Amino acid sequence: MRAHTAVIPAAGMGTRFLPATKAVPKELLPIIDTPALQLIIDEAAGAGIDHVVVVTSHAKPAIEAYFAESPEVVAKLRSTGRNEVADHLERIGRDMRITFAYQDVAMGLGHAVGCAREAVGDEPFAVLLPDEIMGDSSLLAQMCDVSAATGGSVVGLKQVPRDEVSAYGVIDPAGPLDADGVVSVRTMVEKPPVAEAPSELIIIGRYVLTPDVFDKIERVQPGAGGEIQLTDALRMQAENGPFHGVLSGIRRYDTGNPLGWLTAVVELALDDERIGSQFRTWLHDLL
Ligand code: G1P
Repeated sequence: MRAHTAVIPAAGMGTRFLPATKAVPKELLPIIDTPALQLIIDEAAGAGIDHVVVVTSHAKPAIEAYFAESPEVVAKLRSTGRNEVADHLERIGRDMRITFAYQDVAMGLGHAVGCAREAVGDEPFAVLLPDEIMGDSSLLAQMCDVSAATGGSVVGLKQVPRDEVSAYGVIDPAGPLDADGVVSVRTMVEKPPVAEAPSELIIIGRYVLTPDVFDKIERVQPGAGGEIQLTDALRMQAENGPFHGVLSGIRRYDTGNPLGWLTAVVELALDDERIGSQFRTWLHDLL
């Protein structure tokens, strides 16, 4: 079965973006004029996902407000002939089924995914971390295909220099990558010291998981800071059945910190058909 639900963990406090995130959730910070969360949903839609579970917290009501209808704004736009923008606004939260689940205590990524259990049900599902923005939907679509074909979970991979591995989950490949960038995964470890890392292949924020992961999450012991690591649950899966990684050359932006966010905004603005050429001229003159 191919995954048709995606879980987006979005309950964090966004401490790296304070004070902005006192009032605006990190996931709603704009990439040009579109909230990062919307870009993630668009990526999921492009991979065939038709149901998104946003794991949020009651301390972030703006996330739900983003998906609510806004009849006054739409009416105002229509009265001034701005129908295209009005149509766009009306599609938000309508062209995709959106469900909310709540994580009101910060207990880690594994715990956040576990909070979506009821909303996901007993079927394979994708997880998209909204701190990472991809250039397109191709990686997620390929991961959904690999999971459907193998019946196991699949993680997105990136090769990084060895001194960077300690910030990530790192896989231990069971063999070489095939021509499509797919590799069987023997096991994996969360944020290992460089000397103990099993490879230079890190897990990026895209997963397609079989639902047995929920039972595994319940068995994971809290690690540092009381956090339930998703990687620990995935290791239990990998050591007991088919588990694959997919390495792709997709464009990827880490928007989880101000410098990464700014880099993403600048690069995507240069490519934007509405403002790209003007922005390029200005940037060129500035430098
Ligand atoms: C999380 C995961 C880690 C993964 C990373 C990707 O870490 O725990 O395995 O490599 O996302 O961004 P975090 O960035 O939340 O520390």
